[in-house]
Amino acid sequence: MDQQQMKELTGRRAVEILVKSGMKLGLGTGSTAIPAVRHIGALLARGTLQDILAVPTSFQTAIECEKLGIPLFSLNSREIGGSLDLTIDGADEVDPNLYCIKGGGGALLVEKITAYASRAYAIVVDETKLTANLGTGFPLPVEVVSEARVTVTRALEGLGAKVVLREGVRKAGPVITEHGNILLDIRFREPPDPAAMENEINRIPGVVENGFFTRLRPTVFAAHSDGSVEVRN
Ligand code: 5RP
Repeated sequence: MDQQQMKELTGRRAVEILVKSGMKLGLGTGSTAIPAVRHIGALLARGTLQDILAVPTSFQTAIECEKLGIPLFSLNSREIGGSLDLTIDGADEVDPNLYCIKGGGGALLVEKITAYASRAYAIVVDETKLTANLGTGFPLPVEVVSEARVTVTRALEGLGAKVVLREGVRKAGPVITEHGNILLDIRFREPPDPAAMENEINRIPGVVENGFFTRLRPTVFAAHSDGSVEVRN
């Protein structure tokens, strides 16, 4: 099974096991979360699922839901009331504590707001995302108010990180997030304590949010190339 097939498999499996009619759902962003969204759309179209209220974590996900006819709300909508039954999302890396790095697609801010407002949290990944530790491999995204680019860079360097400004593709200059901020992608020389570092980075003035997700114990669905899906929680 190739990586794309693993992404499709894990998303579908999580939906089949966890999603029930009537749920308020947070829907994640990226190439692994979108197949899960598409499966929810297909089950709604068949009538197997009913009365789903969805909160998207990005423009990408909102557009996909619009195409599929999945009813969209915001976390602030009266029908949602700021809390969700379940969020399903992808991740860039997952460690043995089930701590994650997210934000490779630049949507970490709403992904974290949505995750932390959910009673249950599922992460869908393929086996390539399972790592022994976080922070030295896949770069940790940090969303920053543009005025604080240099001061935050210095502060992150002071925490032992190498810092790279995320540049646009087919757009000159930095990536601007859906909330008007820039992204700094950082790598540590030594693996940090992700839970402590999640808090430490957010204490720097000008940091909006960072991509360590450590305050939840997700159910992780990890697809393997032999066609199996391992469930860790
Ligand atoms: C977007 C994310 C994604 O969930 C993460 O980057 C994984 O994406 P993909 O499934 O495409 O590898 O956090 O901000």
